[in-house]
Parts: sequence; C-alpha cells; structure tokens
Amino acid sequence: MRPDYIPDELPHRDEQISKISSILAPLLRGEKPNNIFIYGLTGTGKTAVVKYVLLKFKEYATKIGRDFNYSYVNCRYDDTTYRVLAKLAEGIGVKIPFTGLSTSEVFNRIITALDSLSTSLVVVLDEIDFLVKKRGDELLYRLTRINEELKGSKITIIGVTNDVKFMERLDPRVKSSLGEEEVIFPPYDAIQLEDILLHRASKAFKPGVLDEGVISLCASIAAKEHGDARRALDLLRVSGELAEREGASKVVRDHVLRARMEIERDRVAEVIKTLPLHGKLVLLSLAINPGGTTGEVYNIYRDICKSLAVEPVTQRRVSDIISELDMLGIINTRIVNRGRYGKTRVINLNTDSETLIKVLSEERKIEAFIKNLRSR
Ligand SMILES: Nc1ncnc2c1ncn2[C@@H]1O[C@H](COP(=O)(O)OP(=O)(O)O)[C@@H](O)[C@H]1O
Ligand SMILES: [Mg+2]
Repeated sequence: MRPDYIPDELPHRDEQISKISSILAPLLRGEKPNNIFIYGLTGTGKTAVVKYVLLKFKEYATKIGRDFNYSYVNCRYDDTTYRVLAKLAEGIGVKIPFTGLSTSEVFNRIITALDSLSTSLVVVLDEIDFLVKKRGDELLYRLTRINEELKGSKITIIGVTNDVKFMERLDPRVKSSLGEEEVIFPPYDAIQLEDILLHRASKAFKPGVLDEGVISLCASIAAKEHGDARRALDLLRVSGELAEREGASKVVRDHVLRARMEIERDRVAEVIKTLPLHGKLVLLSLAINPGGTTGEVYNIYRDICKSLAVEPVTQRRVSDIISELDMLGIINTRIVNRGRYGKTRVINLNTDSETLIKVLSEERKIEAFIKNLRSR
C-alpha cells in the first residue's frame, strides 16, 4: 500500500500504457523515440505508469539483446541543475560527486560517456514544474538540444507534471520539443478507484478482513476529491493501521471515517508548520476565539503580539492573512449582514481548536504563550 510500490497491474490505464509503449517502441529497434510530455492531476497514476512501462521495456530489451538506459529524476527533490544532471548521469553509470564540479564539467562528462557508450538514454523528469519554477527552463532547453552535440547516443526526454498550465509558461522552442508527443491522464471515477483498490487490497490484506462497504467508501471519498488514487490508497492503508492498532479483527467503515480525519489532521499540521510567524499568530487568535469577526480577531492578535514582544502587522495585513488561511482550507469565512452595523466577515475553524493549538505550540514562542495562558 506504500506510495512507492509499483504494482504489477494498473487497471484503467491500458490506453496510457499502450500509447507510451508505442511511442517508445523505436527503442527496441535502436532508434530514438520522440520526447513525451505527460500531464494530469495528482494521483492519476502518471509516475506509476511511466516506471512500469520503463521496467517492462528494460526487461524485454535485455531479453532480445537490445539495450537502452534510463534515468528517473524527481525534480521535487532533485531541484538543482547539478542534481538533475547527477541523477541523469547515474542512468549511464557515471558517478558525479555530490558537489565540487561545475555544471559545464558535469555536462562534458555526460557527453563523453554517452559518445563512448552509443546507447539510447531515456530521461524521466517527473514533477518537472518544480525544476522550472525554481531554475527556469535553461536546463530543459539544453537537454532538448543535446542530441545535436552527441555522436554515438541519443537522449529522449519524458516530462511529467501535475500542473496542467505548466506548458504555457515554457519557452516555445522547449515546448515544441518536449511536447512532440502528449499523453493525458484523466482523473479516475469512483468505480475505477474501487477496482484499483480491490486489486491493491488483494495483495495487502488477508481475505475477509475488509468489511463490506469499506473499499467503496474509500473510493467514493477519493472520487469527490478529483479522483486521486493516492488519497484512496492512503485512506485504506490508514484504516487498516487503525484497525490493527486497536486489535480489531476487521476493518469497518468507521475506521475509514476516522482515517479520513487523521489524514486531514496530518495535512493541516503540515500546512501550519510552513506558515510564517504572523500567519501562526493570526491562526492562534482564531483558535482562541473561533467564530469572531476580523476586528475581534485583530484585537486578540494584537494582545498576543504584545505579550510576546513582537511587532504586530496592520489590520489590513491580518485581513489578507485570514484570506490566505481560508484559501489553504484551514478556516472558512462568511459574510454576515449585521443590519445597520453593515456587513462583517465571521471566521470559523475547519479543524478543532485543540488540534490547532497543539500544532501551533511547536513554535517555541507560541508554546511559552500557551503555557502562560493555561496557567492563568
Ligand atoms: N491504475 C492503478 N492501479 C493501481 N494503483 C494505482 C493506479 N494508479 C495509481 N495507482 C497508485 O496510486 C498512487 C498514486 O499514483 P501516482 O502514479 O504516484 O500518481 P501521480 O504520479 O499521477 O501523482 C500510487 O501509489 C500508485 O501506485
Ligand atoms: Mg507522480
């Protein structure tokens, strides 16, 4: 059930698997395939399908004595030009030291190795948008041109992204080269998710331990959130963990509902941790006084700042922070008409205040404040 496990069957992705396979087929004749651009929302199976197809191709190519190489780079984690190139080099057995070389030296080593190997190298740039957002599209430009410099080998690029608008922002030359072929991954619907879960569950759970309705509940919850298979699998996995922890003999629907809450809590905690200090302080003001108006929240916020000896930001800025928190889904706001007092915004929490305060107190300053508050 782990996200990095590549299942040996990927139901409802036949079309994408066969399309990518036919684009890559020239590899088996020792020719260079077109570059491929793959996009679709998160959890639609892009990473799993690409890895699956390349594994199968590699197996088959080895069997018929036609070798090729591939490198898989996840640009979310390897987000510098240097690291992307180092990962790329790994695919052809070239070790690049962790630091210390110039980018052009790394490039030279790769080109020298490729010229002596005379192979086909497929480079998967997964979550490619992270690379471009941080570094621009210079590296992509260079990579899409690299075949002009190579004598023996050829490079094929497979770019993968969750960000459907990504292509629009690229340099037109990179765009046309990367997008020689396009493969779209549509979201799964509830029935497809149920099928996927059934396949995966048959390997992960003993027969009979999943109560009736458990799988379809996970599928329908995930389908409501744009058909994300990762969400569906996470729900089922966490449900199983909850059942196991309490020594239950079966996973029942209630475990799924609790798993959903647990996952949501973890998600909120992740978001809160990354907030800047004043974001946290505004959220703390809301947690202390849920259901307040912007003005009330601002007064509490100012008091907190005072007792922490922190310079407060303006009410205008706090109002913006409240909108940002709303967008992140941690709180919700609604406009209430108060008759002759005019309209005002009322702010409520989407998570219980105890959980919020617990997460917020991981910030040292806030921890001290809360201790103080509770001892009063
Ligand atoms: N058709 C499928 N059958 C079985 N598991 C799938 C299928 N599609 C996705 N998954 C699983 O769902 C999770 C998310 O898929 P992933 O390929 O990482 O999505 P993406 O890369 O599009 O965000 C992974 O654990 C993957 O193994
Ligand atoms: Mg992915």
